[in-house]
Formats: sequence, C-alpha cells, structure tokens
Amino acid sequence: MAIKSLNKNLHKASKAKKDEFYTQIVDIEKELKHYKEQFRGKIVYCNCDDPFESNFFKYFAANFNALKLNKLITTSYVRSPIVGGQLPLFEVEGLKPSGKEPFKIEIKEVPDADGDGAVSIDDVKYLLKHDKNTATPLRGNGDFRSEECIELLKGADIVVTNPPFSLFREYVAQLVEYGKKFLILGNQNAIIYKEVFKFIKENKLWLGYDNGGTKWFQVPNDYDIPTESRIKIENGIKFFSMGSVVWFTNLETTKRHEKFTLYKKYTSQEYPKYDNYDAIEVSKVFEIPMDYEEVMGVPITFLDKYNPEQFEIIGSNRGVDQDPKGVYGRGSHLNGKETFKRLFIKIRK
Ligand SMILES: C[S@@+](CC[C@H](N)C(=O)[O-])C[C@H]1O[C@@H](n2cnc3c(N)ncnc32)[C@H](O)[C@@H]1O
Repeated sequence: MAIKSLNKNLHKASKAKKDEFYTQIVDIEKELKHYKEQFRGKIVYCNCDDPFESNFFKYFAANFNALKLNKLITTSYVRSPIVGGQLPLFEVEGLKPSGKEPFKIEIKEVPDADGDGAVSIDDVKYLLKHDKNTATPLRGNGDFRSEECIELLKGADIVVTNPPFSLFREYVAQLVEYGKKFLILGNQNAIIYKEVFKFIKENKLWLGYDNGGTKWFQVPNDYDIPTESRIKIENGIKFFSMGSVVWFTNLETTKRHEKFTLYKKYTSQEYPKYDNYDAIEVSKVFEIPMDYEEVMGVPITFLDKYNPEQFEIIGSNRGVDQDPKGVYGRGSHLNGKETFKRLFIKIRK
C-alpha cells in the first residue's frame, strides 16, 4: 500500500515536472501578430505565468500600448519549481519574491518612462519597480481553478498562455464554462480528448495559425529528456523541442474560412473502407477525395485545414459520439489493424 502511494506521488511529481517548459517569444510573436485588432481595448489574463519568467507577460507588457490593451493580469503558481529564479527573463531588484509565494501583476498602462519615444520592456521594468500597486501577493496558491484566480478570469476578456498539459482538459473546460476568449498552446493529441473534441465539434474551439513544425521550449536544467536530438543548449540554457504543439483558440481567424484545395478523385482501391465503421480511410490530409460524399476518416492534423463551411466534423475515434458498438472508442479497424487519431468528416454539399 505504502509503495503504491509512493509510486503515485512520484508519478504525480514527474507529471507536474513535465509541465515546466517555457514558450519562446518568437513563437508567441508568430501567432499573436494575426490577432492584433481583436486585442484592442481588452483585458488579457495569463493565468499560468510567472511574470518574471513568462514570455507571454513579456510580449503583452512590451506591446501593451501597440495593442491598445485595457489591462494585463498575470498570476504565478506556487508549485512552479522555477519560481524563485531559475529562468528569470528579467530582474527587477527588490520586487520579485525570493521564495515560492505566488503573486499577481496587474498593469493598466505602460508610460514611456525613459522618454525615448517608444515603450519597451525597460519601461515595464521601470513601472514594476516604481509603482508598487502593480505586483501583489496572491492569497491562495495561484492555481487557475482557485476562487481568487476564477474571480480574475471572470473579469478578463481574453486568456492567453501555455497551460500545464497535464491539466489541459480541465483548463479548456473552465475557459468555455466562463465564456472566455482564449488562445492557448496545447498538444495536438488533445484534439481527440473527448472533453476537448466536443467543443471542436460544437464549433466552440478551433486551431490558430502556427501549428506546423517544431517549437523549442526552455526547460529547467534538470528536466529529463530521453531523446538527445530534442535537446539543445544555448548560452547555458536548456531547450526541448516538440513537434506536435498547436494553438487552440476561439478567436476569429481568417485561416479557418480559407478553402482547402482538393485534387484527388475517389477510387475504391485507393481509399479502403474500415472493417467496423462505414467510412473510408484517407491516410493523408492532402488526399481527401473531392468527389466522395460520405464519411471519411482523416488524421487529426486535418484540423489545421478545417473550414467549417467546407467540411462537417462527424466524430473522432476517441471522441464523444461513441456508437453502440464502441467503434469510435476503440479506434477504427482497417484490414484488421487499428487506426487511431482519426477525425470523421464529410464534405459539405
Ligand atoms: C507549460 S508551462 C508554461 C509556462 C508559461 N505559461 C510559458 O508559456 O512559458 C505551464 C505552467 O503552468 C504552471 N501550473 C501548473 N499547474 C498549475 C495550476 N494548477 N494552476 C496554474 N498554473 C499551473 C506550471 O508551474 C508551469 O509554469
């Protein structure tokens, strides 16, 4: 019994530790540049972000005036092993708590303190140092589910962050429950978590712009990464690469209204039917046959091309609408082999 609970705790700890990877500013800029108009006059909340370590804070604080934000709120979480300074983005002497106590930064304006005609991160530092009202300790532990953070969430318009992947289901559910706009990073596999997929199907959640390719994340130096090729160390800072991280959002994008060009024609030889489900397997998103009118199974990467005016999403093989035979729940069989991570779609007429 004791060993069991020890194992459970170790598992929990290692899971929590795996949540400690930090988004690079280039990745934030690449995505955020598409939404500038939608941020005007808005209250932005980054609720999984130690302001001194999060590039989300840095991006919004430095672009506060350019984006014409109304307010920026950032809260840190007590258990972050790096709170206390392992990955500081910038130092503000005497301000950053030296321990692990969680705190909140709230910015309502960023004046051009150094008078150089532009607002930069130096002006943010000046503000944090001289306006004591900007940083205040939290009463609780900074958990995004805590009453205190939910109160802040209620008052916010848009939530932007890279939340802990291990709590992604709850995290998304909370944003939808409170009717918030959001733009958050998550693992591509979350598309077929049943708690997330249902929002995709209901058209309450879709993907942003920059979903392909590899993204590098800063990690604490003792972060355990088994694959050599996914690590790089630059100026003594450790980075970890991930290839399947995508932006989940409910902010409007032009991308999801673009027509995806289809060029293939259906033949029964090229597109076999599943053994246990009435649909054809389309193993590459680019090969969706333009003239097939029934249900097709496509890889989850399809979501990056999904235009709701062109396609209808019917289900997923790990999704909500598990049929009585449990086909979706188990995966769809193709020549006796299970194919996972499929979305079932139809072309709209
Ligand atoms: C993937 S990291 C990303 C950090 C930062 N948002 C970024 O993008 O650089 C997730 C962060 O969420 C924090 N976190 C974990 N559990 C949390 C919780 N229940 N509430 C709020 N934050 C949490 C972790 O400490 C970690 O710093």
